[in-house]
Amino acid sequence: MASNRNLLVLPGDGIGPEVMAEVRKIIAWMGSKRAVGFDIQEDVVGGAALDKHGVPLADATMRTALAADAVLFGSVGGPKWDNVVFDKKPERGLLRLRKEMDLFANLRPAKVFDALVDASSLKPEIVKGLDIMIIRELTGGVYFGEPRGTSTLPNGEREAIDTQRYKTSEIRRVCAVAFELARKRRNKVCSSEKANVMHTGVLWREEATKLHKEQYADVELTHMYADALAMQLLRNPGQFDVIVTDNLFGDILSDEASMLTGSLGMLPSASLGATDATGRRKALYEPIHGSAPDIAGKGLANPLAETLSYAMMLRYSFDLPKEADLVETAVENVLNAGYRTADLLGGGKTAGAKKVGTQEMGDAIVQELDRLA
Ligand code: IPM
Ligand code: MN
Repeated sequence: MASNRNLLVLPGDGIGPEVMAEVRKIIAWMGSKRAVGFDIQEDVVGGAALDKHGVPLADATMRTALAADAVLFGSVGGPKWDNVVFDKKPERGLLRLRKEMDLFANLRPAKVFDALVDASSLKPEIVKGLDIMIIRELTGGVYFGEPRGTSTLPNGEREAIDTQRYKTSEIRRVCAVAFELARKRRNKVCSSEKANVMHTGVLWREEATKLHKEQYADVELTHMYADALAMQLLRNPGQFDVIVTDNLFGDILSDEASMLTGSLGMLPSASLGATDATGRRKALYEPIHGSAPDIAGKGLANPLAETLSYAMMLRYSFDLPKEADLVETAVENVLNAGYRTADLLGGGKTAGAKKVGTQEMGDAIVQELDRLA
């Protein structure tokens, strides 16, 4: 079916191709049952690209990504490429996409489905109904700061350097995304850094405060050191609505937040660029889980984070909120019906659970979509 929606699918490595295969079933369902079609190109990234092209992201793939309306990404990396030189590591493929597409705002929702309250390692009363949005700055900070590298000192010792740097504009644009989103939610932003020990933290706090005063005074703004926030996420996560933080703290805190929801296998994310004059923005959607080499190829992976990433794509890139709701409702219903991949079994606590593999979970979603439509 011809369509004006151009989608680049990059399954990547490890469980990426397995979970993507399930989402392709949902994409096909949307095409035939809801006339939501895409012109899809599929390509390799990460270790798969290294094997094929000798680089973790080919230039041609980069060009396709820049021209696409959205990129749907799986995961990259695995032990096979452990000894690859630093600049060619599978992860560099993803980092290049983020940087060259200028995807500075990474939206990482941590939402607890009622059916999974018992899969969380925290007490049900602490996580029930939880709905947090972590906004991670994605193109700056220590992930990209120069100088960086490893050298040998005159005395023969080796030294490695990474640099954390942030400019006013980088802080302001990601904080603006946080304030805008908060207005559509519970109107609260918690900005997080370590202004007590880092210059970038001081600047972050000052710029967040300034922007808030200038344009977003209607939103409640608080500040919290990142270490304290890590603690509060476990103690009382319900106090948060939107959290905005830098690239590295956001990486760590979002993995932590995923455990509130029961599994890393449940969390989607959207990486967004700036909105252009025509209202379009570059975007890449990916689960926050990695390639999980330990379970790859075994049909055990949970396809729901990739499924929910696809739902975010429908919502944020294609303005299809009804279809996004439909997919999210199907996920919720399938969980309510007891379907659980291994990661969701929460130490066997879930009574009446139907243990399923990757494909059965994907099929259950499609069946539920059929029932709902
Ligand atoms: C993530 C991942 C990536 C990151 C890796 C794969 C480069 O952990 O998306 O959170 O560190 O950003
Ligand atoms: Mn991470």
